[in-house]
Amino acid sequence: MNTLYQPFIERFEESSNPVRTFYAPGRVNLIGDHTDYCGGLVFPCAIDRGTTVMIRKRDDDTVKLASTNFELMASLSPAELNQKYGDNWINYVLGVIDQFRKRGIETTGFECLYSGNIPNGGGLSSSASLEVVTAFALNSLFGAGFDDIELVRIALAAENEFVGVNCGIMDQYAVAMAQKDHAMMLDCNTLECEQTPLKLDGYQIVIVNSNQRRDLVDSKYNERFQECQTATRDLSKHLNIKQLAEVTPAQMKDSLEYFSSIDVAKRAKHVITEHNRVREAVIALNADDLNTFGRLMNESHKSMSEDFEASTDIIDQLVAISLDTPGVIGARMTGGGFGGCTVNLVAEDQVEYFIESVGKRYREACGLKADFYPTQSDNGMREITE
Ligand code: GLA
Repeated sequence: MNTLYQPFIERFEESSNPVRTFYAPGRVNLIGDHTDYCGGLVFPCAIDRGTTVMIRKRDDDTVKLASTNFELMASLSPAELNQKYGDNWINYVLGVIDQFRKRGIETTGFECLYSGNIPNGGGLSSSASLEVVTAFALNSLFGAGFDDIELVRIALAAENEFVGVNCGIMDQYAVAMAQKDHAMMLDCNTLECEQTPLKLDGYQIVIVNSNQRRDLVDSKYNERFQECQTATRDLSKHLNIKQLAEVTPAQMKDSLEYFSSIDVAKRAKHVITEHNRVREAVIALNADDLNTFGRLMNESHKSMSEDFEASTDIIDQLVAISLDTPGVIGARMTGGGFGGCTVNLVAEDQVEYFIESVGKRYREACGLKADFYPTQSDNGMREITE
């Protein structure tokens, strides 16, 4: 039996109902940030960190939610499931239950214990992992019959409607659909997905957690989302487009006068160039040209920092220190931004030195201790049966 079993039976009353275990990974986005909600391309892979849930039906209609990561145990009646639970991780679960209800499926009662090792709010999709594992588990436990794409949509709607973050579909899609040893080029407009072999010959993905405190991230994220909406409205008065990612770099250059402000134009420039960088990066990876892939990662970071203004001074320093270290061919902030993690392509034989040297220089420069995760890709959501 897996290691959650003991903590599970300690938390809940005895029952003869069967216990099941489900898992969803986190993800790291290699390139293509803040393009998903603009109908653009992204290129994430699942990582070897994630969220496990052990779950069992109850004979009454109570829902009990616990986690090995937090003290609190929530015990909720069906009526309480519709209300937000303070500013708490529980809301991601309630958001999923809410979406099942909206599709006519009542998922009461059950009890479950979560356990995760994705740093919270670090840009590695701890929330999408929690939403997706919940949707997958409830779908199986209550025989709801939703297909995988519908589970992705349920998880996304939970975040958009219940939690209130206007995020795009990248994270939920990635943690649900990932294939080990691949990254996926996802067109967030059509949901066409190209699983691309991650041939990193001699290089290793190393995620660095800056451990910079992130404040007001959701509201800054929503502000960027609104700016991109404004950019789309501005341009659609003059160009035949529905989404920002449809605009070509040449059209962008000729359209500067149409934007309602300089900031809005800068946000659009990032989205349009980033969307095109993803395509170039995937071509480079398929051609075993990791140096070009790395250069595009670096350009992506510059664009996130200067045009999208979603980086921070501390992250910019961390990226600069990383790029100044032997064996590093690409470094960029990953995910929503405003702090969190960077993703780095590091020569395998330099990883140890990278960890030691970047850790030391980052502490000296920024007064913070970084965490390093040499990372392997992984498969998406699944049931764990042994
Ligand atoms: C967060 C969101 C995603 C995406 C990224 C930025 O992770 O959840 O939808 O917008 O930020 O690329």
